[in-house]
Amino acid sequence: MIVGAGAEQVPAYIAAKKMGLTVVGTDLNPNAPGFAYADHKILVSTRDALATEAEAVKFCKNIPINGVMTIANDVPYTVARVANAIGLPSISLEAAECVSDKLLMKERFEQHKVACPWFAEIESLDDLRRYFDAKPAQDFVLKPTDGRGARGVLLIRKGVDLAWAFAESRRWGDCGRLILEEFIPGLQLSTESFIYEGKCYTAAMAERNYARLEQFAPNIIEDGGTVPAEISGALSSAIDNLIQQGANALGIHAGVVKGDIVIDQSGKPMIIELAARLSGGWFATHQIPAASGVDLVKAVISYSLGDAIAIETLLPSKNRATAIRYWFPHSGRILAIRGEGELKKIPGLLTYGFFRTAGDIQPEIKMHPDRFGYVIVEGDSRDEVISRVNSALACIEVEVAP
Ligand SMILES: Nc1ncnc2c1ncn2[C@@H]1O[C@H](COP(=O)(O)OP(=O)(O)OP(=O)(O)O)[C@@H](O)[C@H]1O
Ligand SMILES: [Mg+2]
Repeated sequence: MIVGAGAEQVPAYIAAKKMGLTVVGTDLNPNAPGFAYADHKILVSTRDALATEAEAVKFCKNIPINGVMTIANDVPYTVARVANAIGLPSISLEAAECVSDKLLMKERFEQHKVACPWFAEIESLDDLRRYFDAKPAQDFVLKPTDGRGARGVLLIRKGVDLAWAFAESRRWGDCGRLILEEFIPGLQLSTESFIYEGKCYTAAMAERNYARLEQFAPNIIEDGGTVPAEISGALSSAIDNLIQQGANALGIHAGVVKGDIVIDQSGKPMIIELAARLSGGWFATHQIPAASGVDLVKAVISYSLGDAIAIETLLPSKNRATAIRYWFPHSGRILAIRGEGELKKIPGLLTYGFFRTAGDIQPEIKMHPDRFGYVIVEGDSRDEVISRVNSALACIEVEVAP
C-alpha cells in the first residue's frame, strides 16, 4: 500500500510495479496521477490516519496487504497506524507521533542531549513578545508544531510585526500550537539516511540554497539544493552520528530518516528536524540515485515488506553531482510560459516540472508549494551542475499579468 497517489508519489508506484508487486494506492483525489499505476485504489485522505487504517483493515479482508509506505508526503502517523493495525514493519505509533509534532520531537532531543536549536512553546502573543524582548538582538523562527512545506515558518527579527507573525503562523497549522526556535545562521543541509541493523547509512547530503532568504523574508523559502554539499569528511561523519542519535531519541530503529540539518557558526551540526519518510522534491527519487547510485525508494519498499536489504545497496556506488532550483515568477495570472524547447536541450537535464499552466494564478510566494516549478540537472562536479542549473533557469520566461 502506498499512502498518497500525487505526482511526487508516482515514482514509488513505478518502482513497486517494476519489483513485480501488486499496488494499492490511497488518495482523496480520484484523479490522482499515481492511481494510473495502482492495481487497487482507496479514496481516503492521506492525512486522515484513522480512516486510512479502517479502509486498509477492510481491504485486507479480501486481499492481504504485505507492506505500507509513503514518499514525499508528511504522513508518518497514517503509515504507522496502518502498519500497526495489520502487523507490518514500521516505526512505532509513539515514534510516529514524535515526528509529527515539532515540539514533541525537540523535547525528545533535549532529553537525549541531541544538538538542536533552543526552542519554546508559544501559547500567546505575550509569550512571543516576552522571548523577543528578552533577546532583541537574537533572530528566531516561529512555526506551527504540525506544519509542513514551510507553511507559516517565519523569521522573527527586528522590524517584524509580532502580532501579525503570531496570527500568520497560527493560520497554517492544524492543531493551532506554535513553536519558537532560535534561528541558527549557517550552512543548511538536507540529508537522507537509512537506518538498518543499528547503523545509519546516509545516501546523500544536499546543500540547501537559501540565496533568496532576504527576498521572501519573513517567510523562509528554500530555492533548491546542490549535491554534494561542500563539507569535510569529519563533518560528514559527525552529521551521520547526530542523525543516528536523533533517530534513537525518537525511537526510530530502522527505516528511512530525512534530516534538516544546520551547521552553526562554531561548526557544530544541529538537527532542525527529522522526518521518518522518504523526501519530496525529487531528492530520493532523482537526485540521490543520480549522485550516489543509492535507490532509497527500493530500500523502503523492501523494508516495508519485511525483506532483507543488502548493505551494499545502501552505500554510494558513484560520486556525481546534481542540483535543483525553482522558478519564482511574480504573482498574477499566467499568460504564457516560454522556453521549454531550449530547456530540453540543457546538458545533464534530469527532469523538470511546472506546477501551473497558462491561465492559472501564480500566488505570491509564502510557502514551498507556491513555487512555480523546478528543474534538476546532473553532472560531474558541483561547479558543473550549478552552471547547468542556472542556464536551465534562464531558459524559461513566465509572462504574468499582475
Ligand atoms: N531554527 C532554525 N534555524 C535556522 N533555520 C531554520 C530553523 N527552523 C527552520 N529553519 C529553516 O526553515 C526550513 C523549514 O522549517 P521546518 O522544516 O521546521 O518547517 P516545515 O514546514 O517542516 O518545512 P519542510 O516541509 O520544508 O521541511 C528548515 O528546513 C530550515 O531550512
Ligand atoms: Mg522540515
